[in-house]
Order: sequence, then C-alpha cells, then structure tokens
Amino acid sequence: MANSINRRNWIKTSAFMAGSVTFFSGALNKLSAMPMKVKNVFTSTDLVTDEQVILQAPGVMKARLSANENPFGPSPAAKKAMTEAMETCYQYPFMKTRELMGKIAEFEGVKQNNILMDAGSSPLLHAAAMFYGKNGAEIITGDPSYNDLASSAANLGSKIIKVPLTADYKLDLDAMEAKVGPNTGLVYICNPNNPTATVVDTAKLKAFCERVSKKAVVFVDEAYIDYMPDPQASSVMSSVKAGQNIIVARTFSKLYGFAGLRCGYIIALPDTVKNLSGYATGMMSLAATTVAAAAVAYQEKEFLQDALKKTMASKEFLYALLKKEGYTYIPSSANFVMFPINMEGSKFSQEMNNRGVSIRTWKFNNKDWCRVSIGRMDEMQAFADAFKQLS
Ligand SMILES: Cc1ncc(COP(=O)(O)O)c(C=O)c1O
Repeated sequence: MANSINRRNWIKTSAFMAGSVTFFSGALNKLSAMPMKVKNVFTSTDLVTDEQVILQAPGVMKARLSANENPFGPSPAAKKAMTEAMETCYQYPFMKTRELMGKIAEFEGVKQNNILMDAGSSPLLHAAAMFYGKNGAEIITGDPSYNDLASSAANLGSKIIKVPLTADYKLDLDAMEAKVGPNTGLVYICNPNNPTATVVDTAKLKAFCERVSKKAVVFVDEAYIDYMPDPQASSVMSSVKAGQNIIVARTFSKLYGFAGLRCGYIIALPDTVKNLSGYATGMMSLAATTVAAAAVAYQEKEFLQDALKKTMASKEFLYALLKKEGYTYIPSSANFVMFPINMEGSKFSQEMNNRGVSIRTWKFNNKDWCRVSIGRMDEMQAFADAFKQLS
C-alpha cells in the first residue's frame, strides 16, 4: 500500500512540476449535464488517493464513497459459497479456479488459454505495465484516467503520454491514435473511464482497436462495463476474438461487490496471456474462498440486476441533490459521478471526511472536482447532509 501511495505521489509531484500548462477557466461552471462545445486542456492531478482518504477518515465513517466499491454485494449465494469453501481451504483451489475459468470462457466465447486470472485486475495492469513498458517504451493514456498502469510503467522508466479528454470528458481516441508511434508499447483505454464515468462510442472504439492494435497492444480496462445497459454490446471482447492484439481487463470488484475478495482477469490472445503470465502470480494469488464465491456469482443475473437497480436509484438521488444545490455534473455510465466543486479540493475532502463522508478530489481545467462513488441510500443521505453544509 505504501508503495502505491508513493507511486501515485510521484506522479502527482511530476504533474505539478510540469507546470507550464495553460488552463482554460470560466465556462466550466456552466458545464451542466450537457457536453461542452469548448475544447479543454486538462492535465489532471488527483489530490488524495483512495487509500489516503480512507486512512485519514475519522473514527465514525458514515459513507465510504471514495473507492467505487459496491455496497450491495457480494450476493448471498457468493457468501454461502465462501463459508462452505472454508472446510477445504487448506487445499490450493486449482480445480475451482479451472471451473471459474471455464464459466468465463463459455460466457465470453473464448478458450481458457485466452484467460489470465489474478487477485483483482490490479496485478494484471501491473503485469502489462512491466511487459509493455520496459526499455523506456511509451504508454499512451487519457488525462484524467485511471492511473495505476501508467504510474507502474513510469516507475520502470516508461514515458507516459497523457492525452487530454474531449470537451465532453470522453477519451479522445483520435488524439490518442495520433500519438501512436514506433516507441509505443501500450495504449491504455479505460472504458467507462475512471474518474469521469464517461464512455466512448463502441463502434468507434472497435475501429480504433482494429487500426491501433496493428502498431501496439491496446489495453481496454472494462472494470465498470457491468454498469452499462448491455455490457456485452459495449465491450471490445469481440476484437480479441477477431484475433486483434487487444487485452480486455475485467474485475469482480465493482458490480459483483468483490473488492475485498480480490478477483479479476484479462482476456487476450494466447501469446499475450503467456507473456503476461511471466509477470503476474496468476491463479496462485487467488484465495479458495474468493474462487468459490466467484464461481457461483459469475453472471448471477438476478443479483446483478438488483445491484444495478439500487445503484441507479442512489445515482438519481445524487443527481437531484446536485441540481437542487446548483451544481452541474458529468452524466455517469458507472457507479460514480464527477462534478466541479466551489471549494479547494483538499479542503473539501477534509471537510467531508470530518463529517464522516469519504470522497475523492481531482484538479483539472483549473477547477477542483469531486468524484463521489454511488453507495446505499443511507450513505447518499449522509453525503447530502454533509454536502449541504459546505455547498
Ligand atoms: C478502472 C479501474 N481498473 C482497475 C481497478 C482495479 O480493480 P481491482 O484490482 O480491484 O480489480 C480499478 C479500481 O478501482 C479501476 O477503477
């Protein structure tokens, strides 16, 4: 954890030191829930990490809304499977892991040698950073976007090329493609994007993957894809199946509610899986309890639908609150919402923390932003109570 904080702080410091960026100001408060027409310059800085927010939280945490977790999970069936797995948890879970991989392979229409599993998707992001970022290769990513892969690669000496989002806060695929060159090791696409919760057009992304994957591997992080109305239709899994050099990353940490259990996977071409397995501990990292739970929870439609419904209700509550308080927000395709705040970000975070509510803040476009995860209704109410005192 300390390493992770240091790594992110390193990025933060270097972003501040870059210093020479011209920010656009003004019009941002008029953002509303509509796309902006003005081209922005972003260069983002995340002010406080998930870990720091939670470590600094006061004794009584009323609403933990800083790490995009799903408080509606795991499902009762998953919990039961975990308890039952305790009986045999002195054994390595090889059989159960194979069973789980079989289910994933069948659902996605791929072979087991297309799948690499690990304790969450984070170790797989790091494996990709190590394999594709070595020898000073360039990693292209959005700005702001999920920073874990890029910051790991930066630690290994990779050059990180951060491409500002479009005016409507989506990954700028055209600008990212324009940056691909002979030294590009990997292009990281987070879709839906964290922290903005925006998605890119699927057809456009598929066309991007087809072209760009001929020059460099495209890593599509679909951690939040389960929050889309039709996850399979929004995914680029078909690009892997078409034989393209794409890595699709998925996690059980979000809609399945497994963040504390640790289970994730990538789907890619067999050679890619072989290459990355040299940099990840793979199934040896997976706990027997987690694997047993994941095997029953995978594609448990009723539970997933219920969690989605509750998430949507809490999100609507948040949207209504923000509108009522005179705030704008970026329409969200995930379990978190980003909106510009009027207070300096670190201060806002601290003040919310003091009121028992953890959130995350960023700076970009010369503005401070809050990213609030969608929680249970009692947590959203706690957020509302604290927020109203500060807004
Ligand atoms: C976009 C994205 N990818 C990957 C992860 C890592 O998730 P995990 O390691 O829990 O699978 C996160 C966590 O928040 C995330 O937001």
